[in-house]
Amino acid sequence: MRETQRETVQVSPLSDDLAFLDIVTEWDMVTVYQDWKTSIVVPPTFQPGSLPRVVAVCNQKGGAGKTVTTLELAMALVARGLRVRIIDADPQRASMSVWLRFFRPEGVAADGLKNLKDLFFDDDLSLQDITYATPYEGLHLVPSFPDLDDVESKQPPGTDTNLQFHLRKADDDIDVTLIDCGPKLGPLTVSALVAAHDVIIPVQAASGLDAVGAAALDATLATVRKRLNPDLRVAAVVLTDFSRSSLARKIGGSFARKYPDAAILPARTNVRIGDAQLAKEPLRLFEPTATTVLDYDCAAGVLFGRGRS
Ligand SMILES: Nc1ncnc2c1ncn2[C@@H]1O[C@H](COP(=O)(O)OP(=O)(O)O)[C@@H](O)[C@H]1O
Ligand SMILES: [Mg+2]
Repeated sequence: MRETQRETVQVSPLSDDLAFLDIVTEWDMVTVYQDWKTSIVVPPTFQPGSLPRVVAVCNQKGGAGKTVTTLELAMALVARGLRVRIIDADPQRASMSVWLRFFRPEGVAADGLKNLKDLFFDDDLSLQDITYATPYEGLHLVPSFPDLDDVESKQPPGTDTNLQFHLRKADDDIDVTLIDCGPKLGPLTVSALVAAHDVIIPVQAASGLDAVGAAALDATLATVRKRLNPDLRVAAVVLTDFSRSSLARKIGGSFARKYPDAAILPARTNVRIGDAQLAKEPLRLFEPTATTVLDYDCAAGVLFGRGRS
């Protein structure tokens, strides 16, 4: 891994005084709506993941909240003292590698920077070679650029198993790798799913279409499980941009039925996420007391069994 001498900041734990959501074992569809409370659902059968762990944050729908979920979960994990690597597996121009700043090694020009695409085309490269430090202690990024699309169009040999191969071989002390997938169920997303222990599915809580679209993801998960990664599990559904409404309640209920062993994690609406992106700061630092930040903090505790959960 290429560490640089540039300064990093430590991400602090959140105060216990803040208004975190309650944790319950089932999604409540029984209480009359007026009395209904948004809660985090952790079914009795849910198991937090052991470390080290690889998690694909995946939904083929653009705008579902994958990038927000990946970054805010990563920040919550580093605040717990874990070492985290984000892999930006989305070729879109405005994605994780634009939002999350990272340190380019001395003497390397921006256009000469090795990135995720090179891992698919250059046999001599290792994951450590393209894992860069970020301004946040413990958080590392494997960036990508729009030419990552070449992986999809050219599909070099071994594309499906490339990430799995490199992650298994990686000789570093990363506890959690989060893969921010793109809005397609193409070869890159399949490569992420083959490499992963867990899938986290972010869904816009007020979009009936996101809920319907998740069926296509199920078919891809079934194929990956059958051929290349039988133990892949859906660990959580994150209901992004969540506000209390009867539609959001219904959508949460439908995912709780569909994935009875998965945690259902609301991430409440915050209108300043766009401002945080413009400022190139995670929401956790831009507005540390935002309810969305608290929700991702709880989500990290639930998913990885550390600290508050
Ligand atoms: N908790 C939230 N509150 C408000 N807006 C949100 C929230 N989560 C996501 N969004 C909005 O959804 C947009 C798309 O999210 P993003 O994570 O980029 O989706 P994806 O990576 O799935 O394409 C964000 O730019 C933001 O405007
Ligand atoms: Mg994204």
